[in-house]
Amino acid sequence: WQAPALALLLSYLLGSVPFGLVLTRLAGTQDLRTVGSGNIGATNVLRTGRKSLAAATLALDALKGAGGVWLAAAIAGQPLLGAVGAFLGHLYPVWLRFRGGKGVATLLGVLAALSWPVALVCAATWIAALLLSRYSSVGGMSVAVIAPVALAAANRFDLATLFLGLGLLVLWKHRGNLARLVAGTEPKIGRRAQ
Ligand code: G3P
Repeated sequence: WQAPALALLLSYLLGSVPFGLVLTRLAGTQDLRTVGSGNIGATNVLRTGRKSLAAATLALDALKGAGGVWLAAAIAGQPLLGAVGAFLGHLYPVWLRFRGGKGVATLLGVLAALSWPVALVCAATWIAALLLSRYSSVGGMSVAVIAPVALAAANRFDLATLFLGLGLLVLWKHRGNLARLVAGTEPKIGRRAQ
């Protein structure tokens, strides 16, 4: 049992690195948790006006998801353990008293490592929903919904079940966004925080 436990622990620790927070802190901007939505993800980094930092946050948050999968595959031969570990690490990081991000970039990264064709479909859905709605949260929630559906359509029922759970957690993390969308107060993408 040691190898799976180590794989889970290490992928969790990797996933729990809050890149948005780290990068903005290194760049000397104010604490991301006091900006915009208070989230530690790329969308909120964009609200600081630092586009390249937002792009780097998106890439690194996705990469750590893929990294968790590869790590667990290498250590224990169990990539799905790494998927769960990295994803939960991002959502509930021990360093931030378990108040982490909303999981969209990390979910895409995990998916890319497990099934890149389905990840491409989800990334395309995400971009389309984002461009059409101009709301980042609508793009993110679309990924959460489409991922298990696309995996089931690709006959990957093992992954579809897992991503149903991960997707539900992404939706749960977006409950504030959902309330703002309903109230008409959700900010559109790219609007800088005041
Ligand atoms: O991935 C997070 C995004 O969907 C919403 O971010 O900062 O608008 O809550 P935010």
